Amino acid sequence: MDKYEEFKKNVYKLIKLDLSSYKEKQMKRRITSLVTRNNYKDFDDYFLALKKDEKLFNQFLNYLTINVSEFYRNENQWDILEKNILPDLVKNNKKLKIWSSACSTGEEPYSLVMLMTRFYKLEDITVYATDIDVEIMEKAKIGIYNEKSIKSLPKEFVIKYFEKLGSNYKIKDEIKDRVKFSRINLLEDKFLTNCHLVTCRNVMIYFTGQAKDIMYHKFRESLTNDGVFFVGSTEQIIKPNEYKLKPIKTFFYTRA
Ligand SMILES: C[S@@+](CC[C@H](N)C(=O)[O-])C[C@H]1O[C@@H](n2cnc3c(N)ncnc32)[C@H](O)[C@@H]1O
Repeated sequence: MDKYEEFKKNVYKLIKLDLSSYKEKQMKRRITSLVTRNNYKDFDDYFLALKKDEKLFNQFLNYLTINVSEFYRNENQWDILEKNILPDLVKNNKKLKIWSSACSTGEEPYSLVMLMTRFYKLEDITVYATDIDVEIMEKAKIGIYNEKSIKSLPKEFVIKYFEKLGSNYKIKDEIKDRVKFSRINLLEDKFLTNCHLVTCRNVMIYFTGQAKDIMYHKFRESLTNDGVFFVGSTEQIIKPNEYKLKPIKTFFYTRA
């Protein structure tokens, strides 16, 4: 048996993370580069070290997928969200339950809070932000970003909700306080329920078709009847009706 197969089994036993649900070629290449970069002989050797060394383990988790994010990523879609999607949701609901489901360093959930200030008072806004990687969410909680990551964010939000920190930008507590971070492994854990808006952007691309199938069903179940599922710009769902979803706009789906 290939030692990678054994490695996948060991990782699953250790942290319930099923590496087989990620596209194999890409994942194996990334992990192999970690093994060699850290000077381990093979997957066995690397796994033994992972078990003992928390820093190495965090590096491994960080490396599974790319963590890069930005505020208002693919800004046109945020415009559609504001002008075409949210007005109906806001009209029909006093408060919205919003879930950013692979939130990385926080740009997405914080963007959602800022956008929601156009519809609700700050104290009435809550965004649930989850990721498999707890370390990355610690960065999100600190909330310091470089100039590049805020380039698509409306200028009024930059002025109102950030403080300049040298060449960086620190997000203000009034926005941070509206986001609740917690760990959810999308492959294993229960999803949130009764959500009016769920984002799952730029993570599905890493998963196999089979894993995606299961997740689309679960995302559908996480929505309210009028709830909306917002996906990434390369992640349109090919046959949404298979998951009892229907498109309302490109990249936005609701229950069929
Ligand atoms: C490229 S980031 C996406 C950030 C943001 N949604 C965006 O579109 O800019 C991908 C994130 O998916 C997370 N991720 C990978 N596998 C996951 C899993 N099984 N469950 C939850 N999150 C996962 C990674 O930790 C990473 O933070």
